[in-house]
Amino acid sequence: MLGPMTARLSLTRNGPDEAVPLVLLHAFPLDRRMWDDVLAELDDLPVITLDAPGFGSSPATEELAEAFGAPSEPTLTLYADAVAGTLREAGVDRAVVAGLSMGGYATLALAERHPDLLAGVGLLDTRAAPDPEAAREDRLRVAEEAAGPKGAGAVAPMIGKVLGTTSHAERPEVVEKVRGWLAEAPPSGIAWAQRAMAARPDRLAALEALDVPALVLRGAEDLQSSQDDAESMASALRDVEVVVVPRAGHLSAVEQPQEVATALRALRERCLRA
Ligand code: MLT
Repeated sequence: MLGPMTARLSLTRNGPDEAVPLVLLHAFPLDRRMWDDVLAELDDLPVITLDAPGFGSSPATEELAEAFGAPSEPTLTLYADAVAGTLREAGVDRAVVAGLSMGGYATLALAERHPDLLAGVGLLDTRAAPDPEAAREDRLRVAEEAAGPKGAGAVAPMIGKVLGTTSHAERPEVVEKVRGWLAEAPPSGIAWAQRAMAARPDRLAALEALDVPALVLRGAEDLQSSQDDAESMASALRDVEVVVVPRAGHLSAVEQPQEVATALRALRERCLRA
């Protein structure tokens, strides 16, 4: 049987090797390349990017579940445990963790299970509330499709929802880049993550229990997480900055990387002062 020392998420360290790095968790069904343009703005900071279980260069979810003693059914707690285990093995005991959408769900699971690891949190284009029943059923349908002959084609329609109206109207290169990422998404990772996201509980209480600086950010044109979602997370947090990024949709970090990088830099500075 593999141990947590051998099964770890694939990670890249960027910038100087300083304490309290910024750790960035990407959206579904992408991988850590999603952060490339943000990283270019933060090359003077210690930043770690990780691939989610079953995505990019990270191991298959079955391998991670066995190593971390997780239940075989998909759950975001495995993602959170794998992030914490991978960071600790890399010598990181405290970090500012920011996640976008699915990365935000994993950040919320980290807040619940590994709050001692967190010097601060960034919750980007995400929400603490669970899915309504119809959305859960839709996820399970997409999981079935991805596991079948459609494969990554099951997530191709997401292109209409993950980018804002500005990107669709004015930035064909961004649309094509994201379309390419969706086409490359691993079917097994898609199926696992959809089932894990469908099963996630309400995690507002985990935010209420946190006492570290926080950022809640969303693209002004985000069709998938609402201003109400952002406000509900912000009202649960004690020390929070709320940022709305103009001309960005759900993938704010891809659509307006400079604004997102500025907000993440400010978050880490607040965490170092706290
Ligand atoms: C994401 O961007 O990670 C997804 O939109 C998450 C979700 O489907 O809720």
